[in-house]
Amino acid sequence: MYRSHTCGELRLANAGQTVTLAGWVQRVRKMGSLNFIDLRDRYGITQLVADENESKEINELVASLGREYVIQATGVVTERQSKNNKIDTGEIEIKLTELKVLNKAVTPPFTIEENTDGGEDIRAQYRYLDLRRAPLKRALELRHRMAHEVRNYLSNVGFMEIETPYLIKSTPEGARDFVVPSRMNPGEFYALPQSPQTFKQLLMVAGYDRYFQIVRCFRDEDLRADRQPEFTQIDCEMSFVEREDVLNTFEGLAKALFKNVLGKEFTEAFPRISYKDAMEYYGSDKPDIRFGMKMNTITDMVKGHNFAVLDDAEYVGAIVVPGCAGYTRKQLDELTEWVKRPQVGAKGLIYIKYNAEGIKSSIDKFYSADDLKAICSAIGAAEGDLVLVLSGEKKKMQGALGTLRLEMGNRLGLRDNSVFAPLWVCDFPLLEWDDETQRFYAMHHPFTAPKPEDMEKFYSNKKEDLEQVNANAYDFVLNGTEVGGGSIRIHDSKVQERMFEVLGFSKEDADYRFGFIINAFKYGAPPHGGIAFGFDRFCSLFGGQETIRDYIAFPKNNTGRDVMLDAPSRIDMAQMDELFIKSTAPEQK
Ligand code: AMO
Repeated sequence: MYRSHTCGELRLANAGQTVTLAGWVQRVRKMGSLNFIDLRDRYGITQLVADENESKEINELVASLGREYVIQATGVVTERQSKNNKIDTGEIEIKLTELKVLNKAVTPPFTIEENTDGGEDIRAQYRYLDLRRAPLKRALELRHRMAHEVRNYLSNVGFMEIETPYLIKSTPEGARDFVVPSRMNPGEFYALPQSPQTFKQLLMVAGYDRYFQIVRCFRDEDLRADRQPEFTQIDCEMSFVEREDVLNTFEGLAKALFKNVLGKEFTEAFPRISYKDAMEYYGSDKPDIRFGMKMNTITDMVKGHNFAVLDDAEYVGAIVVPGCAGYTRKQLDELTEWVKRPQVGAKGLIYIKYNAEGIKSSIDKFYSADDLKAICSAIGAAEGDLVLVLSGEKKKMQGALGTLRLEMGNRLGLRDNSVFAPLWVCDFPLLEWDDETQRFYAMHHPFTAPKPEDMEKFYSNKKEDLEQVNANAYDFVLNGTEVGGGSIRIHDSKVQERMFEVLGFSKEDADYRFGFIINAFKYGAPPHGGIAFGFDRFCSLFGGQETIRDYIAFPKNNTGRDVMLDAPSRIDMAQMDELFIKSTAPEQK
């Protein structure tokens, strides 16, 4: 037996017991004749103590220990003289009677502590050492608890977990595919699934009316803090449902997670907003509603003062920043530079400072104090507030003002990660026009159903009509992050064929790529719909973090590399030949 207890387990009630622990040496300290070892395992840290006056042999061994040595220690649980209330085992220590080195360790390249001295790259290279640190352990524990809770909840309400394949057929919608060459089928490739979308729909056709899967998905897209090339979804689908059924079921799941994992109870229904309102009031399809500061459209209100910038603008929008009328010239100049950054994209910033002494603004020349006061009162600004105004092209400036709103929320400390504000965003447009390729793309994916009331427009050949078709699609947003997305699906093969037609596929092309699903719909497809949650995102938000990397045991870096494995890497020529592949990469031709 290597151990009788773990390093997180012993308490004062165990005093007097002889125990054996095994783990990693976190630290060795010497104080007078006493040698202390902090012994660490997955469960915590326990202090071991050896007295030089008692056993020379043990103390010689202690002196030889290095950081991260793996040891086995036997001794008696004893009450500590100076207690450490920062750790669960802080009231006791183990007086050593036996000590054995199970394995030596070379000095780790960074400290294995709560806060390490290691930079990001070195930690990624030695991920297995970083994973020994408590913050990462907490992250993976949280992930495990979440997965357990998801399986529990969904199984209890009749969902079946069914696995779907990873080697599938490439579909040209959405992100780029990762592809896998087939040795047995020269010149042909599998694709790794971007999501199990078509399979879960086929499972509905097959009659498995409540499916879920915690499943890996692969997308070759540009990476960000909340995007990895391989990530995990809680993927779900239901038959014989309408939007309400889906939203209620998964609101139930989210509430159970909040309650059972975080101890947070949501008694009210989650708020809902339409895509259109989300853009108008928050300049984003994933509003952060932890704070107000809603955007106001003041386009018409500000016209007619001989100020061309606003007179000619397609859109003028304003936010009221509470309590910031005291902003200095310097602060406003800095903010103006900030909105001009390409990531925000505004040409300039107009401000109105509503002070007790009066109103001061960057457009005083064109607007009287009364004009400005009227604007302030129309948008709910009060004494002490700062009004920030952006103007220009509607879509672009709504986005820019939304970004500015988030920035002001950050600056005012209104985006507290221990506060959770879930939201459903509904009624997305079905299609998005792309000027460059002169065609429509599905805003969610091509299997999403148009709203029944928009069916007539869906069959119109006019671009303006098609642009107005709304989808039966919804997103689950938490604290300004899109955590989930889904829709009611098309289940009629004719409607599905029309969808591919609208997306610019020829009949042959649609059949070649999607024939299997169009065909399946001819064999009795039930009405169905579903959703997929980004599991990594869900976990990181629950953990109060914006980046998902720490919630994945072995993630990729932001250029898609696994720096620990040094992957991707070249394969040898023989392997390439076997796969009928020739590289055109410059050094490999
Ligand atoms: P969608 O593409 O919206 O929908 O994806 C669902 C959720 O997956 C998460 N997600 C990601 N997480 C980490 N890294 C990524 N690269 C990444 N890409 C997406 C997001 C997103 O909300 N099949 C549909 C779902 C459906 O219609 O049922 C789908 O995949 O949190």
